[in-house]
Amino acid sequence: MDEKTNSEQNSPSLTFEEKQKKLAQVICICKGIPLRTIIKALDGASTVADVNRKTGSGSGGCRGERCGPKIKILLKKKQEQKISAVKKDQ
Ligand code: FES
Repeated sequence: MDEKTNSEQNSPSLTFEEKQKKLAQVICICKGIPLRTIIKALDGASTVADVNRKTGSGSGGCRGERCGPKIKILLKKKQEQKISAVKKDQ
């Protein structure tokens, strides 16, 4: 039986364990917020401030100096995915 979900099949280079390890990777070091939480917050967010409000990231000692750029990249990737999905529908 194939243990992979649909989203995992989109990243064929990662095993299930590798993907879980990546999702547990801490993005906001000051607040200990993992990638998994940031990804969930990307839905409906269009700015880093939106993600910060949802997760509490950016409110640590560095005030978002370290996590802000990472979140910005994730937002850009999410927006690019939406654009490519729209193009495929057309
Ligand atoms: S790493 Fe997120 S506030 Fe410092």
